[in-house]
Amino acid sequence: MNIPKVLGLSGFGLEVPDLEVARRFYVAFGLQVEQTAGKLVLRSPGRSNDEIVVVQGAKKRMHHLSFFIAPGTEAAFGEKLAKAGIDVRVSPAMAELRPGLWFQDPWGTWINLYPRHPDPLPAISLPEYNIGGRGARIDVDLWQELPRDRPPMRIGHMLVFTPDWERAEKFFVDVLGLWTTDRVAGKVAFMAAGEGVIDHHCFGLINGTHRGFQHASFQVASMDDIGFGAWRMVNAGYKQGFGPGRHAIASNLFHYTRDPWGSWIEYYADMDKVTTSWKCRDWDDLPYIWGPEWSPEFWGTEMNGNFEPR
Ligand SMILES: [Fe+2]
Repeated sequence: MNIPKVLGLSGFGLEVPDLEVARRFYVAFGLQVEQTAGKLVLRSPGRSNDEIVVVQGAKKRMHHLSFFIAPGTEAAFGEKLAKAGIDVRVSPAMAELRPGLWFQDPWGTWINLYPRHPDPLPAISLPEYNIGGRGARIDVDLWQELPRDRPPMRIGHMLVFTPDWERAEKFFVDVLGLWTTDRVAGKVAFMAAGEGVIDHHCFGLINGTHRGFQHASFQVASMDDIGFGAWRMVNAGYKQGFGPGRHAIASNLFHYTRDPWGSWIEYYADMDKVTTSWKCRDWDDLPYIWGPEWSPEFWGTEMNGNFEPR
């Protein structure tokens, strides 16, 4: 029995040389920021969990991952980790960043298990769209009414590089209780967490040469919100990006902006929802069904690897 299981992605940590560069970038993206000595804490407005924690370090690197667990399952997780040969580590430095359990996975990445249920998504009112034969918006100039600055609703997923792809997938399934919803054979495993009707993925593993952060993705309400967000980033000076498009696996609409350190941040909407009836399949490489030319550096680890030795 694979119990207990994580409930979803709470967030992640990045280490970067200049916190001010990070603050400017994520504020432009639409996140709220709290700055204290030596760190930034970022959230989609209204969320109660810290979605990104940025700390200062010599070079950009992935600092940690954080997943929700049900309150009361801490001891069961401790036992399960111990059985897998992993100790819950008491690290004052990590405990200062996030509450909950902390441990290092077999490849050295710190992982936080945060005892809290994810907040429900906020209700968003969408305009009447005259699409697909609908024509109920009459004598209204939509362009005057669309909200242009609607922020992200929440962090939805992130993808990380791993040098030990098959074993890492097995670890996240067996020990943390995520489940693989689809794979690009030999390249990417997309993983979901939680119960009931859930996003196609909240986490993913990319077969690479090193550990590292590849992209984080924030849910927005509509295609218009993706467009306004992308436009806002360009106007703020973050001109490298690609989108919009619609992904193949998970079907979500997307736009990516390159972050100041060479990895990516994504706005997404309209992702496939799955239940435990979903059947995982292996696909050939199909990043999207329509969109711009794929950035050649998108999957590259050169700028994103955690190159420190174990
Ligand atoms: Fe994504």
